[in-house]
Amino acid sequence: MALLECRGVGMRFGGAVALYNVDVSARAGAITGLIGPNGAGKTTLFNCITGLLQPTSGTIELEGREITGLAPFKRARWGVARTFQRLELFTSLSVRENIRVAGDIRNRWARGARVDPRAETDHVLQLLGLTALADRDVAEIPTGMARRVEMGRALMTRPKILLLDEPASGQDERETEEFGELLLHLCDEGTAILLVEHDVSLVMKVCSLIQVLDFGSIIAAGTPAEIQTDQAVLDAYLGEEQKA
Ligand SMILES: Nc1ncnc2c1ncn2[C@@H]1O[C@H](COP(=O)(O)OP(=O)(O)O)[C@@H](O)[C@H]1O
Ligand SMILES: [Mg+2]
Repeated sequence: MALLECRGVGMRFGGAVALYNVDVSARAGAITGLIGPNGAGKTTLFNCITGLLQPTSGTIELEGREITGLAPFKRARWGVARTFQRLELFTSLSVRENIRVAGDIRNRWARGARVDPRAETDHVLQLLGLTALADRDVAEIPTGMARRVEMGRALMTRPKILLLDEPASGQDERETEEFGELLLHLCDEGTAILLVEHDVSLVMKVCSLIQVLDFGSIIAAGTPAEIQTDQAVLDAYLGEEQKA
């Protein structure tokens, strides 16, 4: 059974259909890619999964339990965490404080399974390669590093599934490579990762399954090798992306 299962999800904004009958799943211990052109509906699907948007049709299940109608904070408690395409950080706080805050919040609800926020923060800083930047204001660090801070904040909740919305944008080639290793490490520990990303080589390298969204519909799903040779995907997305 997949950890996350979206079935027949539809989302309409007024007359505009942003998602149509979307089936997307993600397994524990695996990185699942969700790719597609700008405006395809990737961020909208993340908003439906996390509860920022209520889908107009379809269901979303986590570990076989339906979460479609739950408030965002309840989904977070059930183990759903995300990062944002547009960074959402506390710009007046340091790198360390931004991450630590999430641990304090988690401890308020995870009564039986509290973490030591200080030790956990140090662990996450190290895991993300942020230790040297820990005391800098997030406002003054490069975007690529700020994306890692956002991911650190998500990790502090010890999520079952991590939804990443274009995490490599702003990271250079070497940073992206390191980042890919980190994602593989996280999924080795059992986390499910759903990755929205335009860096095709990163997606092809780390994902075991890729689902392709175009104009709000899934047009293909398969292994990286299958996706790279799928004619519909080449026409809709990869052809353009690889020319660029
Ligand atoms: N809150 C909203 N209100 C109206 N339209 C929206 C809203 N959010 C997204 N859309 C529309 O839904 C479509 C999919 O957008 P989005 O999910 O951001 O695509 P992607 O993340 O794949 O680039 C776009 O046409 C976008 O304009
Ligand atoms: Mg988006």
